[in-house]
Amino acid sequence: MSSQPFTTGTVPGALPGLGHIWPLMRRPIEFLTSLPDHGDLVEIRLGPTPVYVPCHPELLRQTLTDDRTFDKGGKYYDRARAMAGNGVATCAHKDHRRQRRLLQPAFHPSRLEAYATTMEQEVKALTDSWGDAEVVDAYPVLYALALRTVTRTLFSTRVTDEVVADIQRSFDIAFSGFFRQMFMPPALLRLPLPANLRHQRALRNLNAIVDRVLRDATAGQESVPGQDREAAGRNVLSVLLASRESAAPAGTADTGAEGAAQGGDAAGAADAEIHDQVVTVLAAGSETVASTLTWALYLLSRNPAAQRRLQEEADTVLGGRPARWDDLPHLPHTHRVITETIRLYPPGWLFTRVTTKAVILAGRHLKAGTTVVISPVPVHRNTAVFRRAADFDPDRWLPERTSALPRGAFAGFGTGPRKCVGDGFGVAECALALTAVASHWTVRCAPGADTRPVPLAAFYRPRRLRLELNRRRHDA
Ligand code: HEM
Repeated sequence: MSSQPFTTGTVPGALPGLGHIWPLMRRPIEFLTSLPDHGDLVEIRLGPTPVYVPCHPELLRQTLTDDRTFDKGGKYYDRARAMAGNGVATCAHKDHRRQRRLLQPAFHPSRLEAYATTMEQEVKALTDSWGDAEVVDAYPVLYALALRTVTRTLFSTRVTDEVVADIQRSFDIAFSGFFRQMFMPPALLRLPLPANLRHQRALRNLNAIVDRVLRDATAGQESVPGQDREAAGRNVLSVLLASRESAAPAGTADTGAEGAAQGGDAAGAADAEIHDQVVTVLAAGSETVASTLTWALYLLSRNPAAQRRLQEEADTVLGGRPARWDDLPHLPHTHRVITETIRLYPPGWLFTRVTTKAVILAGRHLKAGTTVVISPVPVHRNTAVFRRAADFDPDRWLPERTSALPRGAFAGFGTGPRKCVGDGFGVAECALALTAVASHWTVRCAPGADTRPVPLAAFYRPRRLRLELNRRRHDA
């Protein structure tokens, strides 16, 4: 990797009015992978607006760690908040520390250990339902698994199959067009076009379902006596409800601009915030895990040797029984498969930041209000950072090989103060699911796969991946 000073450049091929939106949305991996050819920090255009993309690990790290200067804001985040609310993943720096502090205890390792039991039960119920040589449409099945797991662990509630399907449908429409809503000219979004009307209907439906899930979960929690609730431990819902109970009177606490605007008093603000936090955690906790698992099974189906190693590790450590929390440290290859999957296909593939003041990045002067596009892809697939960057090679994460990587080389969970709060949760769930599959099944890609990404979707996932599941011989 070249040492400083950094290089900068402008990416050619911007179309009038559209800029680079077309290749970014239609061929995102190819487009983002090509950016380092033009410099360590490159200028592209989103519509007519020039924006900057860090392609060097150190520059990506700088923008992610300095969240006061590179904040979540500007016109793109205004639009993101219109869809996902003002939860911890979308709020600006001024609200973030308080929101994050509130949620953090629900993701403490001691809580993850308790959640792992539920994860294992959900994974087992799914894999036990499969028949030999069955073909499954991977993403919807794994999405339902992840959604059930999040609701049971983080909201202590069970959702019926119909509710899962309803949430899935609404998220699918609302979040599949996420970047369309973020980047399209507002005049076009206001037109009564079928896509706009569908999107608005899906958002209304999603908000209504979230209110229903929240009502049921709250009733469930409130019917449990206080000391039993304490014994059952903290989860996202219980910490949020506790914060509502202790919400300060209006004007005495940092309640957040959105909440204050919506509610006017502290209790109303907390209710609006709880709703937004539930949408955030449902979206961030289910689509990411489902995408990671879908891509992992795809990569394993195309790399039989890697799949065999995963099966051998599961056989040696577990001998056919389901994995538990305590087993996770003994499954290093499984973890390397997960990291390598996220390196190649990061579910969180595109974010933006806006500069809150004039700043110099890579020697370039950026005015206050400049948009910086954050994507792990230009770094993860940069051949100056990773040798044979396009290859699926879980062993590149062996400790003796990672020591040669530059700081900031892996950004699949982000870094700095806005780093994924659910990384431990997500990795544990993926590891439990992959070992359950590897212990009993061999996975093959069935005909009819379309692994192009769903265009404009918030999370990077294939359009359609059908997998054939063959029971391993020792189980037959
Ligand atoms: C395994 C898959 C996952 C991946 C690849 C992933 C990726 C990411 C990334 C890249 C960010 C940073 C976004 C930014 O910098 O703007 C993030 C933030 C976040 N993630 Fe995850 N995530 C995963 C799983 C989860 C899970 C399971 C949950 C919850 C149960 C979760 C909840 C969140 C939240 C709430 C944030 C916002 C954190 C903040 O701004 O303080 N994620 N995630």
